[in-house]
Amino acid sequence: MGQSPSLVARLASLAPTISVGILTADLMALGADLARLDGTGVALLHFDVMDGCFTPMMTFGPPLVKAVRTPLLKDVHLMIDEPLEKLGDYVAGGADVVTVHAESCTHIHRVLQRLGTMENANDPARGIVRGVALNPGTPIAVLEPLLDELDLVHLLAINPGWGGQKFLPATMGRIADVRRLLVRAGRRILLGVDGGITRENVGTLAGSGVDLVVTGSAVFDGKAPAENARTMLAALRAR
Ligand code: DX5
Ligand code: ZN
Repeated sequence: MGQSPSLVARLASLAPTISVGILTADLMALGADLARLDGTGVALLHFDVMDGCFTPMMTFGPPLVKAVRTPLLKDVHLMIDEPLEKLGDYVAGGADVVTVHAESCTHIHRVLQRLGTMENANDPARGIVRGVALNPGTPIAVLEPLLDELDLVHLLAINPGWGGQKFLPATMGRIADVRRLLVRAGRRILLGVDGGITRENVGTLAGSGVDLVVTGSAVFDGKAPAENARTMLAALRAR
């Protein structure tokens, strides 16, 4: 299956853009809350899957990813131990982007190869964007042997498990390091950052070369998600 040119190209054309986390949405009225993003320019919905083993927190699994009906792209962040045999359920749930943690796989290269053989359940022509996430304590060098098998590098700016944490300043240097590495890859690989990004600090990412900013509590804050999303996008695209 290889890289999904249509989806990677589509996300590259939207970059920089935001992927909105649903963890802090009103889960009692999720459909209504998601509908409030219509027309804001948000293109992706971020599903934080946590198994209570790889991260202390446990959230949800494939049934919820499948149950959410949305025109937005499903950006599934797997914070689960050993995802290799679990990928199929998330792909069947309509995942467009599947991001696995290098730290959670005994064989990360094999996980990416397996993902590369899978078909997008929404539209086979779309392919699936294969992401590798790195926790703040994981060296960027881990990515080097994987460059031929990934479409997205997903840097965590916090330690995974909770929304609403503080953005780690060292992330800015890591963004620059990954950008230098991706230039060497010789093909378009997306760069994402996730965690602790707020209306106040998102502007520091403008012009940093980040394609995808994941933000949860800054958008679904229980008050004005649509306005928050527009503010974040405008600030990210300010330069
Ligand atoms: C943390 C998740 C993040 C987090 C983002 O483990 O991967 O996506 O929910 O939430 P905020 O934007 O509130 O930090
Ligand atoms: Zn996430």
